[in-house]
Amino acid sequence: MLIAGNWKMYKGPREAGAFCRALREADLGGVDVAVCPPYVSLADAVQALAGTDIGVYAQSCHWESEGPFTGEISAPMLRELGVYGTIVGHSERRQHFGETDETVARRVDAALEHGLYVIACVGETEAEREAGETEAVLGRQVSVLDEDDNLVVAYEPVWAIGTGKTATPAIAQDAHAFIKSLLDVPVLYGGSVKPENAGELCSQHDIDGALVGGASLDLESFAAICRAAFPYHS
Ligand code: 13P
Repeated sequence: MLIAGNWKMYKGPREAGAFCRALREADLGGVDVAVCPPYVSLADAVQALAGTDIGVYAQSCHWESEGPFTGEISAPMLRELGVYGTIVGHSERRQHFGETDETVARRVDAALEHGLYVIACVGETEAEREAGETEAVLGRQVSVLDEDDNLVVAYEPVWAIGTGKTATPAIAQDAHAFIKSLLDVPVLYGGSVKPENAGELCSQHDIDGALVGGASLDLESFAAICRAAFPYHS
């Protein structure tokens, strides 16, 4: 059971360091925990969480180790900072920054090759779900990934991200079971996870944890989500 907080473009270095120092002391119930700060805050997070089991993940990484790619960061650079893993292919990157299944695959392969753990995100839009295309979309997004001990997938239905509209546990369970029929890796759920719904979601057979956005920015709610998931820890 992994509970990961995707901070998106929130918390600069000072705030990230203070949050992570407080996280060290928080009651997280014994689940595996990770935080995913913005690039500029990674070093402070790594330093503040040194000697703990809490992983620090980036939010993306480039497929080349170095080169003329303005604005990008490579896997070896993240490793040098002491970062443990990275998210790849978040729907906000697909929507706003031209991320495609092909670039997701290249980023995932490079990150794994350089020893980073990877949370690869998939998920359908509302229009795709309404058109009955959910499995086709998930199938296409998952088809570019290969099984790896250091890979987990996050199922994040786009219509549930930041909207307060959580997928019902049954909808999430169905999608997770479908993804796992294609790729034998742990699958996290993401999309409006809160302390109130985390337990029921994580109790589903094929839900192996959560990727939490908004509710991970507040220490109390993030810790409460971790504790709610713990009874389903395997
Ligand atoms: P919210 O939890 O804010 O809906 O965001 C989910 C998400 O995108 C996590 O990556």
